[in-house]
Amino acid sequence: MKIGIIGAGDVAKTLAVGLSKNHEVKISSRNPDKNKEFMNLYPKVEVATFNEVSIYGELIINALPGNVSLNVLESIKSNLENKVMIDLANPLDFSKDSFELFVANNDSLGEQIQRLLPNTYVVKALNTVTAKLMVNPSSIKNPHDIFICGNHKDAKKTVRMILEDDFGWETIHDLGDIQGSRAMEQLMHIWLKLWGNIGHTMFNFHIEVK
Ligand SMILES: NC(=O)c1ccc[n+]([C@@H]2O[C@H](COP(=O)([O-])OP(=O)(O)OC[C@H]3O[C@@H](n4cnc5c(N)ncnc54)[C@H](OP(=O)(O)O)[C@@H]3O)[C@@H](O)[C@H]2O)c1
Repeated sequence: MKIGIIGAGDVAKTLAVGLSKNHEVKISSRNPDKNKEFMNLYPKVEVATFNEVSIYGELIINALPGNVSLNVLESIKSNLENKVMIDLANPLDFSKDSFELFVANNDSLGEQIQRLLPNTYVVKALNTVTAKLMVNPSSIKNPHDIFICGNHKDAKKTVRMILEDDFGWETIHDLGDIQGSRAMEQLMHIWLKLWGNIGHTMFNFHIEVK
């Protein structure tokens, strides 16, 4: 499958390297040339503009900071129609000393993105784990879980296949429609506290069911 990743940060690059084993992947930046070092290291992954990559991808991944996601996605909106889009952005407000979410409780970034792109099949996934763990869940030995949500059953099936077959996720909790993004994004509150306590980001949640 051709996968277009919107963004060229840590998450975009980590996902691109992981996905390029089974897929054709491009990542995107405001300034693709800035990523020459990455392109030399991973020549299979091309870096292009947001517009080019959003046209290229049959499946799209939003790997932008939460606070710029809506503006950038709006600018490439027509290229995203009728495509599945994984949204893993967190609505973190970095302007405050302690991190806050700029949308929460009765709305979420996942829902805002789905409202902005009514003809795109948005699936929230992977926002609750660090980039390295997204593509390599077996790097934590004990069982640990991931969440997805979205309005479209077939889109969630496609995303589930990627999570299971490309990355090896075993336990995926479906939180229902895109409103489930509220719960997934608000996990950032506890995730950030745990990061402070644990001192690194290689940890995750596990739901023990009797
Ligand atoms: N880091 C993690 O482990 C992790 C884990 C879970 C979820 N997330 C979420 O995943 C998303 C991406 O995280 P990241 O750490 O990879 O992000 P990042 O490195 O901060 O940024 C990703 C990309 O966003 C683009 N960008 C930044 N400001 C922009 C602007 N004003 N306009 C247009 N593009 C802009 C940059 O593009 P340029 O190349 O043009 O500068 C950059 O390539 C975030 O929403 C984060 O909350 C991250």
